[in-house]
Formats: sequence, structure tokens, C-alpha cells
Amino acid sequence: MRLLVCGGAGFIGSNFVRLRLRENGDRVVVLDKLTYAGREENFHDFSGEPDFRFVRGAIEDPEAVAGALEGGGRGGWGPIEAIVNFAAETHVDRSIAEPDAFVKTHALGTYVLLEAARERGLRYVQVSTDEVYGSIEDGSFTETSHLRPSSPYSATKTGADLLVESYFHTYGLPAVICRGSNNYGPYQYPEKLIPLMILNALHGDPLPVYGDGMQVRNWIHATDFGRAIGHVLEHGVPGEVYNAGGPDECPNIEVVNRIVELTGADESLIEHVTDRPGHDRRYSLSSEKARALGWEPRVRFAEGLEQTVAWYRENGWWWEPIRSGDYRAYYERQYGRSLA
Ligand code: NAD
Ligand code: TYD
Repeated sequence: MRLLVCGGAGFIGSNFVRLRLRENGDRVVVLDKLTYAGREENFHDFSGEPDFRFVRGAIEDPEAVAGALEGGGRGGWGPIEAIVNFAAETHVDRSIAEPDAFVKTHALGTYVLLEAARERGLRYVQVSTDEVYGSIEDGSFTETSHLRPSSPYSATKTGADLLVESYFHTYGLPAVICRGSNNYGPYQYPEKLIPLMILNALHGDPLPVYGDGMQVRNWIHATDFGRAIGHVLEHGVPGEVYNAGGPDECPNIEVVNRIVELTGADESLIEHVTDRPGHDRRYSLSSEKARALGWEPRVRFAEGLEQTVAWYRENGWWWEPIRSGDYRAYYERQYGRSLA
């Protein structure tokens, strides 16, 4: 297929593009604003390939979107057939501190992309999150569960999902939504739990566990989520939502203990710090609907975490510029201490 992948310079988007180029023979134009989380380094192994193009621009900018869509038409590719939208502000803690960009990218950006898809009759996939359902004590959310987002991040992602659904109901846009659980794997920016704990453990920095550390997340490897999105793109029924949850759930403190073991760090580095305001206790997704469509996750958490620790250990070239750059100031603001 010929795809426009928005937000493809980020963690999950770049893993998705790699999969589609390698496994599906797709042609891909990436449109990405390159915020702090978007990096051309994430394309290092495929940036020169003829089936890949990168356009720097914002999804809320209609001209940039039109230009990126035309980019696929140049050079004999033929027109773009589908838009897959990963572009987002993605960190809950940043959404609590500064919600502005979340509203702009998720509301306005999604609207601009939907309009572009509607004008051209393109298929549209919105990449979304389990956080739109809110927290659940027992059991798992299905696609028909109520939407009860609790942070500015999840509330604006929910708004974007509802707008996508309205374009299906009102204009018949062939749009689908794919909601993933917590992702992990290579190329994840170290503001998120797993890469933050791995890099801190490797450097002997304290490991800041929010509150009691008994919050539970449903972990999915980014390649499993990427394949779910690809599967929904190809086989999903327009107007439908598909959950893609990982095979394993784990309390945060257990994730951190495993990282301590895998890195050989000292467990005295673990520090319980002030809890996140409005912290969701547990996320859990039922993925029966995506499984019925023929998708299933392949990577168990124990194996995927070990591979992820090894990737960060071996790829200092990727994280060194982050850890020595603006990230240090973010870390100090967020955690009230500096990094080693
Ligand atoms: P990320 O922060 O690593 O990447 C986001 C990308 O979007 C970056 O490349 C950034 O530059 C780009 N971007 C941001 N605003 C933009 C804009 N206005 N215009 C163009 N590009 C813009 O995020 P990620 O973890 O890869 O998440 C990708 C998507 O998957 C998001 O929609 C997120 O909500 C969803 N998701 C993430 C997770 C997770 O655990 N990380 C789980 C489920 C769903
Ligand atoms: P995060 O990776 O930010 O993802 P999300 O908030 O979208 O689930 O956080 C995962 C869990 O880890 C969440 O319960 C918050 C917790 N956490 C910590 O305990 N310490 C940290 O430094 C971070 C970043 C997260």
C-alpha cells in the first residue's frame, strides 16, 4: 500500500514504518513535526530507501498535509491510499504540566487530517490508547466500554477518537480506530517508565517509583502493536474500534525490580516518590475483536523486556544525545533532581 504515516518519527510510528517497509512492501511518506520526541535517528536504517520519504511538518497545518499527500504521487508512486495517524503528544506527566500542545495536536491536527482524507476519499486509521477508557480495578475494557479519560492526555485523545467516529457516521469516511495498551521496545523516549528506568539503572541514577508502585499496566511490544495497526488498516471494518492489548499485565514495582535484575543495578536505587496527580490505578484491554480479525501478540513481556534492556545497552548512540540535551532540564523539573 501507499501510506501517509503521521507522527512516524516517534517511537511506535517508526517501528510501524520499519515493519511495513520490511514485511509488507509498502511505500511510506512520513509527516512529522519533530517535537522533542520525534527524531530522524529513528529512521537511521531505512532513511535512504526508495520506498520511504520524510516530510517535516505539523498535522494541524493543512498545507503541510496536502504537500505530504502529494509527495507520494511524485516519482511514479501513484496516489497515497491511506492515512495512519500516530502524531500526538504522548506523555501524561507533560499533559499535567502543560496541556496546550495536547489540545492543539489532538483536536485541530486530527480534524485537519480527517478533512484531507474526506476530500480525497482515503482510508484513515487513528492510533489511540487504552487510556481513553480510564482506570479499571478488575476485568478488562472492551470496545463498547464507557469512555472515562482522566488526564489531559487521555481526554484529548478521546476527543480525537470521537471526531474520527463522527466522520464515519456523518460523511461515511472509511475510518477505523486502533487502541493500544502500554507499549515498550526500542526507540522509546526515556520519559516513559521502561526506558527511563533502564537508562537510570545503567547510570546508577535513582529509580523514581510513583506512590506505592502497585499501579498495573498491560504491556505490549511496539512491533505487536504495529502489526495490530497494520492488520486493522487492511482488514478492519470502517467505523469500528479495535483494542490491541499486550499478553501480560504487571505492577510498576515489579517492572522496576525486573529492570534492576536485568541491568545488574543495585536495588537500593529504587525510590518511592510523590504520586502522579489523578494517577490511573490499572489499565487492561480485552483484544478479542482484533484476535477475531486474525491478529495476536507474539512477544511475551519477560522476553520483550530482556530484549529491550539489551537494545538500550547496545545503542548508546541513540540515547546519549537525548540524555545530555534538553531532557536533563525536563528531568530536573519533573523529578526535582539532576541526572548523573
Ligand atoms: P511519541 O511521543 O514517541 O511520538 C509522537 C510523534 O508524533 C513524534 O514523532 C512527534 O514529533 C510527532 N508529533 C507530535 N505532534 C505532532 C504534530 N502536531 N504534527 C506532526 N507530528 C507531531 O509517541 P508514541 O509512543 O510513538 O505514540 C504514538 C501514538 O500511539 C500516539 O497517538 C499515542 O497516543 C499512541 N499510543 C501510545 C502508547 C504508548 O504506550 N506509547 C500506547 C497506546 C497508544
Ligand atoms: P508511563 O510510561 O508514563 O505511561 P502511562 O502513564 O501512559 O501508563 O507510566 C507507566 C506507569 O509508570 C504509570 O503508572 C506511571 C509510572 N511511572 C513511575 O512510577 N515513575 C516514573 O518515573 C514514570 C515516568 C512512570
